[in-house]
Amino acid sequence: MHIDFSQISTMEKQQWLQHAIAPRPVCFASTIDLAGNVNVSPFSFFNLFSSNPPIVIFAPSRRVRDNTTKHTLQNVWEVPECVINMVDYNMVQQTSLSSCEFAKGVDEFVKSGFTKEPATMVKPPMVKEAKIKLECKVNEIKSLGEEGGAGQLVIAEVLCMHVDESILGKDGKIDQRKLHLVARLGGDWYCKVDETNLFTVNKPNIQIAIGVDALPEGIRHSLILTGNHLGLLGNVHDIPEINPAFTDDRLKSIIQYYSISPIEMEKELHIYAAELLNTGKVQDAWQILLSGENI
Ligand SMILES: Cc1cc2nc3c(=O)[nH]c(=O)nc-3n(C[C@H](O)[C@H](O)[C@H](O)COP(=O)(O)O)c2cc1C
Repeated sequence: MHIDFSQISTMEKQQWLQHAIAPRPVCFASTIDLAGNVNVSPFSFFNLFSSNPPIVIFAPSRRVRDNTTKHTLQNVWEVPECVINMVDYNMVQQTSLSSCEFAKGVDEFVKSGFTKEPATMVKPPMVKEAKIKLECKVNEIKSLGEEGGAGQLVIAEVLCMHVDESILGKDGKIDQRKLHLVARLGGDWYCKVDETNLFTVNKPNIQIAIGVDALPEGIRHSLILTGNHLGLLGNVHDIPEINPAFTDDRLKSIIQYYSISPIEMEKELHIYAAELLNTGKVQDAWQILLSGENI
């Protein structure tokens, strides 16, 4: 399916993009106007863009419906400061409630039932219930357009960060398994980050990897191994050598049982290698595959 963005409405563009560019972390931004009225609203057009200087950006858009601007944007024009409170699973329903279009001056902390906690370096208060709070000064507001749907980038520099000790690991750093961040996808979909869906991927940047293109033909064109398997195999620095000391009962029986049918043997070896790769045993998988290549 091909979607030409010059032929569809703003609402349709928004829907396609929000489902495709997902999940997006949720910034719950507290701001204040010159009269001291406090606002707190969620924004999923949000991310980290720089560590030095430490810059985060979120984007309150001009409303598609009537091209009006959001109170959060009006507030940071008046007082260029904000607190970004990170939204975890325990906060998600109240956070969503706060996104109602309450009239200007209505305190969304009160409406959504969150507690204000004074910030240390900026005027807007923090959300006490959030496990992570970033106190920020707004360096720049960059308009991406004047029409309904146009993002207004709030470019914010993090001055300091508050981290609840309950989410720290033994090493004193944030334990990703304890934070339970939520993220927004398309429509009403959200996701929750927890141990049931977290996984790790080894960084390939220590030494240069051989790449998928350097894999032996039989492996690269396998009908069994997936793109993820090839990615793991290609992330070695040299094609491994056959290790004469490597012994494996299942390998032996595959070789014996399928000796009269090389095609079946290759299939079984690839199935076995895939199982090993799925459990992170890359070197063992290589040994199994090299045994097949050598027969
Ligand atoms: C999880 C979530 C994420 C949202 N993300 C955005 C966003 O990135 N940009 C935006 O303009 N509105 C977003 N909204 C809608 C705003 O939160 C909503 O318009 C809010 O009322 C704005 O409040 P304000 O006028 O008090 O600033 C989001 C709503 C929710 C619930």
